[in-house]
Amino acid sequence: MSGEPPPTVQQILATRTGEEMALGERYLNPQMGRILRTLGFDKVWSGGEGAHLIDADGERYLDLFGGYGVFAIGRNHPDVIEAIEQLTAARTGNLPQLGVTLLSGVLAEQLLARAPGSVAAMVPANTGTEAVEAAIKIARAATGRPRVLYAEHAFHGLTLGSLSLNGGVEFREGFGPLLPGCDPVGFGDLDALERELARGEVAAFVVEPIQGKGVNLPPHGYLAAAQRLCGEAGALFVCDEVQTGIGRTGRFLALEHWGLEPDMICLAKALSGGFVPIGALLVSRAAFDRVFDGMERAVRHGSTFGGNDLAAAVALATLRVLDREDLLAHAQRMGALLLELTTPLVERFEVVSDVRGLGLMWAIEFGPPAGAGARRLWETVERRQPGLFSQLVTVPLFHEHKIFCQVAGHRMNVIKALPALTIEEAEVRRFAAALEQTIAAAERYPGALARFGLRTGLRAARVGR
Ligand SMILES: Cc1ncc(COP(=O)(O)O)c(C=O)c1O
Repeated sequence: MSGEPPPTVQQILATRTGEEMALGERYLNPQMGRILRTLGFDKVWSGGEGAHLIDADGERYLDLFGGYGVFAIGRNHPDVIEAIEQLTAARTGNLPQLGVTLLSGVLAEQLLARAPGSVAAMVPANTGTEAVEAAIKIARAATGRPRVLYAEHAFHGLTLGSLSLNGGVEFREGFGPLLPGCDPVGFGDLDALERELARGEVAAFVVEPIQGKGVNLPPHGYLAAAQRLCGEAGALFVCDEVQTGIGRTGRFLALEHWGLEPDMICLAKALSGGFVPIGALLVSRAAFDRVFDGMERAVRHGSTFGGNDLAAAVALATLRVLDREDLLAHAQRMGALLLELTTPLVERFEVVSDVRGLGLMWAIEFGPPAGAGARRLWETVERRQPGLFSQLVTVPLFHEHKIFCQVAGHRMNVIKALPALTIEEAEVRRFAAALEQTIAAAERYPGALARFGLRTGLRAARVGR
């Protein structure tokens, strides 16, 4: 192969389809290959449309993974494709670097118009973690303080700064030492937050309005009180809306549910319509001006591709689609329907301990059954392989019902759904019915749990965010 020019995209798709797993295992991530084979998720995905992924046989799978939540407006939305075509045809003067461009300025204008009045400027980025890194740096520089607080079970990304705010030991382990001065507080625990703020030197408290890992909703009044405590302590209040933003919860930003006015807001994921990497940090005027406070400090934070024309063009198209298709209202309706259809499962099944969600960010949690024998079996298996019961549900959902979803995090029996906001009512109903059927089967045969777990060794199969 060496020395040959790389083939075109068309040639690759025409001649090498079917080699995905082999290439992935050889060059990318062999352990991911093992997970996919173990679960039987080693599909060749040949297409995507709206709320669905399409396999090589043309079978459509309802995609509740949503690429970790990037496909809010659905896969391959024609408006976004058209925006990419328009952008490339325009041959813009992209990334002058010592210069400014129109599209990212208009994107900032549009995002800020949809955000609370507390933010007034945008720092462009390329990913969610980069937006969080920018928030950490700006908080420290703006306040002159070193400490950053975060919530237990938080997920803010996997680069070193955001990893320092990550509540999952499975992500942190082996990568230390992480950033000094980063301390966790319980999600929902205002006393702990107040105590940590009182210890002083806190630059910021960074929090997801709804935690992605496990889909944990904030207790009533928590976020507004946290914002107030931060304000009183002179610490910045930062909402990480990388997952909850761009319509996911039925509002453009989840913070609207609680009327929050943060000092910074992190955005990414769905903002690009799922096409290209994107990130953005919305920042208060005061914090921004304290960091970029002179000509010699104009470029003290940034990223080469931040604010590129392609990302801005797809983001603007995404915002247009959200408005034109009235997707926030649709997400509210579909989310309410999903909760209405699935909440009764808590009563119906001993193993369902909770169903929760907001808009189209939804989760179901499993717990041990009541009967002594079944409980013992559950506990034995779960001790060896925490979160295994969930796989007894996700695997048949995938193979028998063509519904693609996964656990919401390590060592948790929580299945999560982040469907396209365009999902149709019939598909919501189909998912709820398939879920009920699958849980009934999983609950009926507790022995299957043990056999399934011991056979497959699913300890490694944790791929949720
Ligand atoms: C709340 C939150 N913040 C940050 C990130 C990191 O985003 P990225 O993977 O684009 O770096 C994620 C990713 O799942 C997330 O859910």
